[in-house]
Amino acid sequence: MKIVSGPASRELAESVASITGLQNVSVVLRVFPDGEFYIRLDGDVLGEDIVIIQTTCPSMQDGKLFQLAFMADAAKRAGACRVTAVVPYLAYARQDKLFLSGEGISAETVVRMLGASGVDSLLTVNIHSDKVLSQFSLPVQSVSAISLLANYFVEKGFRGAYALAPDKGALYIAKEAQQVLGGGIGYLNKVRDYHTGQTVQSGEGLDVEGKTVIIFDDIISTGGTIVGAVKILKDQGAKQVFAACAHPLLMGDAEKRMREAGIEEIIGTDSVPGPYSKVSLSPLISKQLKGAR
Ligand code: R5P
Repeated sequence: MKIVSGPASRELAESVASITGLQNVSVVLRVFPDGEFYIRLDGDVLGEDIVIIQTTCPSMQDGKLFQLAFMADAAKRAGACRVTAVVPYLAYARQDKLFLSGEGISAETVVRMLGASGVDSLLTVNIHSDKVLSQFSLPVQSVSAISLLANYFVEKGFRGAYALAPDKGALYIAKEAQQVLGGGIGYLNKVRDYHTGQTVQSGEGLDVEGKTVIIFDDIISTGGTIVGAVKILKDQGAKQVFAACAHPLLMGDAEKRMREAGIEEIIGTDSVPGPYSKVSLSPLISKQLKGAR
């Protein structure tokens, strides 16, 4: 088995290669003047099972998806056996069912496209809803980074913090965090208008007075969900509030809005490399790969 380090996840791939002892094949990426990509695998993959590590987070998630497809195609043409794509943040995964008539299911389209390019199976992290995993045209597995995030807080001295899910869909996430933190758990209700995208959150009687609360979610995008949750928590007497998520997209002025709402710190993983990726997924991915060998 060899690792191919996708341009969007070079550091993560190097770290996984160093933990697992697997050889890392580097990738030459060039961008043509018109913006199209040139991809070449700089190493031998003949007869090898290949693991391509490439996240597909913003910015340029479409470009990152195409780079992944081109790497899978290149690997198969060079004689690789099985190609597993490790895609920590899977772009378009949130459109995983029909919400309104006339829509498509982008999550399925993306996976089909990758399958057609040579990917045999896919490993991702905290997919928005794992209820949809069996619908995909390829085997897709989602592993959870939540205990790694919760451990970050334990190491910072916050064992006993209260874990809050900002909506019912994230309750499984808060439960995983609570197993590490042990400080109680709760969730808010969130109702979305599918035409406008607007959401309304509510939650009564949370046992958070005087407590440190950590809001756990799969994704922070605009920060709106967290801002709404902090307001409810502060109104109910929470002492300090942190935000943690697997995928810290933090688009636009999300951080500013969250800080202004009273968030102490924002913690995410390197599924979205950047200032909030304070927890690496490398131990989690390495463990999965070791199990698959
Ligand atoms: C939605 O159900 C997800 O779990 C997140 O809560 C959501 O994507 C966060 O988005 P935003 O930061 O824009 O509120």
